[in-house]
Formats: sequence, C-alpha cells, structure tokens
Amino acid sequence: MKSMPAPKKHYIVRENNGLTGYGENHKRLESINRIAAGVAHEIRNSLTEVFGFIQLLELSVEPNQAQKRYLENIYSGVESINSVINELLLLQASLNLRTRPITVMVLIEEMMDRVKQRAHDQSTTLAYKQFGPLPLVEVDQSLIGRALYNLIKNALDAVEQGGEVSVAARYQSGRKTVVIEISDTGKGIAKESLNLIFEPFYSCKPLGTGLGLCSALNVVKQHGGDIKVNSCEGEGSTFLVELPAIGFEST
Ligand SMILES: Nc1ncnc2c1ncn2[C@@H]1O[C@H](COP(=O)(O)OP(=O)(O)OP(=O)(O)O)[C@@H](O)[C@H]1O
Ligand SMILES: [Mg+2]
Repeated sequence: MKSMPAPKKHYIVRENNGLTGYGENHKRLESINRIAAGVAHEIRNSLTEVFGFIQLLELSVEPNQAQKRYLENIYSGVESINSVINELLLLQASLNLRTRPITVMVLIEEMMDRVKQRAHDQSTTLAYKQFGPLPLVEVDQSLIGRALYNLIKNALDAVEQGGEVSVAARYQSGRKTVVIEISDTGKGIAKESLNLIFEPFYSCKPLGTGLGLCSALNVVKQHGGDIKVNSCEGEGSTFLVELPAIGFEST
C-alpha cells in the first residue's frame, strides 16, 4: 500500500498542540471566544424577536412597492446578522454535540460535493487521494461538516482562478486518529500572519467575517481533535484535520 507523502517542509503551526504564537495566546483567545459566544447568545434572542415583529408587520399591512423593498432589505440585513451569530455560537466553550458514528468517507464526499460546482466555475482542479482504509469517527456530522467546508472554502479562495485543491485522508494507527488534509496551491500564508489566522475576526478578505477558522478549530477540538497548518507564502497551504478514530466498520 502506498504511504502518504510527508507534507512539504515549510513552517508548521499548531504542531503537537503548541502553535507558534497560538500557544502563548491560548488563554487570551479562549476569553475572546467566550465573550463572543456570550454576546452572540444575547443578540440571537433579540434577533428572534425582530424576526417575529417583521412577520407581524407583513401580515398586518399591505405594503406598497417601496415598503416591500424596505422589508426585503430588513430581512437580508437580519439574515446576515443571523449567519454571523450562528458562526459565533460555534465558539462556545461547550458545544451541544449530537454525535454518532460515521465513516470518514461520508464527511469527505459531503465536503467535496459542496464545492464541486464552485471549483469547476473557477477552473480549479479538485483532487482526492486516499491512503488505505478509513475508519469510523464519532462526530456531530453537521458541525464537523461545517468545519471542513470552511477549510475547503478557504482553499478555493486562496487559489482564486485555476490552481489545485487536493484532499487526502489516512488513518494513523499509532495515534488512532484519522487525518484529513486539505491542500491548495494558492497564495500561502505569511509567517507573521500564522499566529493570527485562528483569531476571531481576523480576515484578509473584503467580505470575510474571519470566523471560519476559529469556529472550525473549536468544533474540531471539542471532538478531541486538532487542526494543524503547514504553509509557504507564494506556494500554498495544507490544513490537517485530526479526529479520533473509533474503529473500522465491520463487514
Ligand atoms: N488556505 C488558505 N490560504 C491562504 N490564506 C488562508 C487560508 N485559509 C485561511 N487563510 C487566511 O486566514 C484568514 C482567516 O480565515 P477564516 O476562514 O477564519 O476567515 P475568512 O475566510 O477571511 O472569512 P470567512 O470564513 O468568514 O469567509 C483568511 O482571511 C486568510 O487570510
Ligand atoms: Mg474562511
């Protein structure tokens, strides 16, 4: 059986739980996350009320064209606040995980399916390599799915047009973990930014919220896993998602 080639030797962050920079900032980040998730809770309650009042307003008046437009604008504003709030809620210290055993392949297929069309539209090659049989993991499919989606979305953002995004998976028998690697041939990450990318609201994109990576890390960590990064400016990045394996499907 072919063994998985070692990731390119550039600089590695979050190796063995000690990210250069992240390790030192860990406590500070945890409190930022706690505050952000707490604020999100409060906002979500008010937002639910706002949604309810908009619906009442729609029912009680026959809006003219201009008023319809105003209502649509209010809706889309509230919806974008809602999506930020949902992402912020994933920073909670104790997420309510609805876990069940699932094969890693299902997670990977789901992630690839979600971006297939976009990869095609931006002429990016999407590749998948599997190294040996993959185990079962005990995860909240929806939350881990969102975390993986955030990572592959970032990879597609990084390559812009063309380029390649590749996904690889392997089982590490010694550590009883499965590793899902998401690599891109994009612009890479500057060394000085590596300790910032997992911070909430850190984004280099005009429309980015900067919540994708920190929520993904929190979700993966709460499943007993970790995310590591390996990147080189101008050459590309590899994000490695490690999840504890619970065994193999019996045939
Ligand atoms: N694969 C990657 N290649 C290059 N830079 C990356 C990659 N992944 C993340 N980054 C950098 O890390 C930053 C933070 O990523 P994160 O996913 O948290 O937020 P975002 O992508 O900017 O916004 P959002 O996820 O809300 O769309 C990005 O803005 C980008 O600068
Ligand atoms: Mg992102």
